[in-house]
Amino acid sequence: MRVRILGSAAGGGLPQWNCRCANCKAVRAGSPHVQPRTQSSVAVSADSRVWFLLNVSADVRQQLLAFAELWPPQPNRRGTTIGGCVLTDAEIDHTSGLLQLREGCRFGVFSTALVHRWLNRYFPIGTILADFADRPWTELTLNEALELPLPTGHPSGLRVRAFETGQDAPRFVPDDNADLTGSVIGLEITDSVTGGKLVYAPGVATISDTLRDAARGASCILLDGTFWTDDEPVQMEISSRSATEMGHVPVDGPNGTLEWLGGLPTRHRVYVHINNTNPMLNDRGPQRRRVNDKGVHVGADGDEFEV
Ligand code: MLT
Ligand code: MN
Ligand code: ZN
Repeated sequence: MRVRILGSAAGGGLPQWNCRCANCKAVRAGSPHVQPRTQSSVAVSADSRVWFLLNVSADVRQQLLAFAELWPPQPNRRGTTIGGCVLTDAEIDHTSGLLQLREGCRFGVFSTALVHRWLNRYFPIGTILADFADRPWTELTLNEALELPLPTGHPSGLRVRAFETGQDAPRFVPDDNADLTGSVIGLEITDSVTGGKLVYAPGVATISDTLRDAARGASCILLDGTFWTDDEPVQMEISSRSATEMGHVPVDGPNGTLEWLGGLPTRHRVYVHINNTNPMLNDRGPQRRRVNDKGVHVGADGDEFEV
């Protein structure tokens, strides 16, 4: 299976339209040490012909333009190599790109039942899209493997299993004390032929046993690298909530993801969904050195891995 990072930044991208943090300023100034990044999305393919998007960001148009294998294939006038889209939550940065892909072609959308409900009720892109294009929706059951079908119904050669990585409702969902099971998931994607396994988890609230189990045997892990420290959102005046309270375990610290990732035998250990304020985005900074010294990679747009 091929795994391609379409967008490595968290919501807002880098630079973010209204931000003058050190990283955003550096990109605008043309610094060679901080690369621009589009918003969170990955593409996977078993056969290099049909690709599944894992999350669909508002930058999807730019991301498809930048990757020729997602251009309309020969020989028809209209067509796509997108075989389906799998969502890990209902957040705007992971779902609003579906509205950009509304001009026809048939492919499926996959999410948990809760995310499907929220995307019909509170941010109703599911219902809106139905008036534009054929987007059959399949609900993923937690911890149950599903053979991802192509739009034709034939097997894609990829199996997906959703597992819980947090419980957090987007801000547009009213606080109704409903059960949040299925609100934030990670994806375990396995190549049916080679057995190669990818774990994609852009929103991780805690390093749970569920996540540890999923990581076992994976040759590539794309993990939540949103914030460096727990108080970064407060320090940077992004939020009054800490990283953990926002559903993102920080990279640094004794309970951070770097300590865990650094000890794993996984071939490719990669941060994605990186917020523009995160100091590890500067490739000359001490934080980047700490990440690299652990054998972990700060994901960039266009990075590709063979799994
Ligand atoms: C998140 O990753 O926590 C969300 O995308 C943040 C948001 O946009 O509200
Ligand atoms: Mn996000
Ligand atoms: Zn910024």
